[in-house]
Amino acid sequence: MNENLQKILDEAKTRIAAAESLEDLNDIRVQMLGKKGRITDVMKSMRELPPEERPAFGQMVNGLRQMVEETMETRKRLLAAKVREAKLAAETIDVTLPAKAAGIGHSHPNTIALDEVERIFVGMGYEVVEGPEVEKDYYNFEALNIPANHPAKDEQDTFYINPDVVLRTQTSSVQVRVMEKGQLPIRMISPGRVYRSDEVDATHSPCFHQIEGLVIDKNVTFADLKGTLALFARQLFGEDTRVKFRPHHFPFTEPSAEMDVSCFKCHGTGCRFCKGSGWIEILGCGMVHPHVLEMRGIDPEEYTGFAFGVGLERISLLKYEIDDMRLLYENDARFLKQF
Ligand code: DAH
Repeated sequence: MNENLQKILDEAKTRIAAAESLEDLNDIRVQMLGKKGRITDVMKSMRELPPEERPAFGQMVNGLRQMVEETMETRKRLLAAKVREAKLAAETIDVTLPAKAAGIGHSHPNTIALDEVERIFVGMGYEVVEGPEVEKDYYNFEALNIPANHPAKDEQDTFYINPDVVLRTQTSSVQVRVMEKGQLPIRMISPGRVYRSDEVDATHSPCFHQIEGLVIDKNVTFADLKGTLALFARQLFGEDTRVKFRPHHFPFTEPSAEMDVSCFKCHGTGCRFCKGSGWIEILGCGMVHPHVLEMRGIDPEEYTGFAFGVGLERISLLKYEIDDMRLLYENDARFLKQF
């Protein structure tokens, strides 16, 4: 091999040995053996030699080409093995590493409070009933003794789907649906979503939850209402909870009342929680209005009943001392996990 070819071979070997990737190697192949490559050029230069020297020269260049190709092939196998190893290493799973903790959810304070309320009433023999959230105006208002011109029907408060259909503004509508079935006596609670066209703030939301209660039987009196709701309050807020009934007005009950519980933070001495009064308003209630019974074909001379309506959020906020209702709707797991 002449000096020139030896130089090309040495250079090729040095470059191939230095190639760090299959791409590098390919570049070298193009530069050496490609159509315009160095070795190809040398081969072409053969034309300038006298014919008798050409066979020997040709053999030499072919030898050179072969050696370069072999060197390249060896390097290629080595690099390919490295690539495979790197890939395997990258894909290797260390099964001895600790597993990622799966994010476990948590019951919402409303759910916890509702479970508690249901447990108390089911314990007293009540049935849990559900009713539709999209409700006829009739069931939400008319059948509850709320006539067409009543201020509660103002569009400001009620979401109307059409003139006859609303998003229910109170779970009291379920009272009507249960009475309509015609099975007496009745002892039921009905939890669920209600809707009012309110702006969102710390104490308001256009969608919130109520729990309705209804008892109808012979000889049901206001004393039964008081006894039942006092027991409910003691079970929910603690044995030493006292209750107080204030006269109020609801169209579907007569007489009507609001029930306060003694503040379970200060036990009635007055604190920030109860705004200094020692009492916290908790629900509305009353004896089912005779007209409401009559509209369902129940004889108010034979049957009487009481009803009540509790705001579920109000209970959650009080029970868990949460001071902003919006926290209940954001569903931030860090918040929910505290209860
Ligand atoms: N529906 C009433 C409201 O949304 C709450 C209520 C009060 C329900 C008295 C009753 C009741 O059943 O007797 O404000």
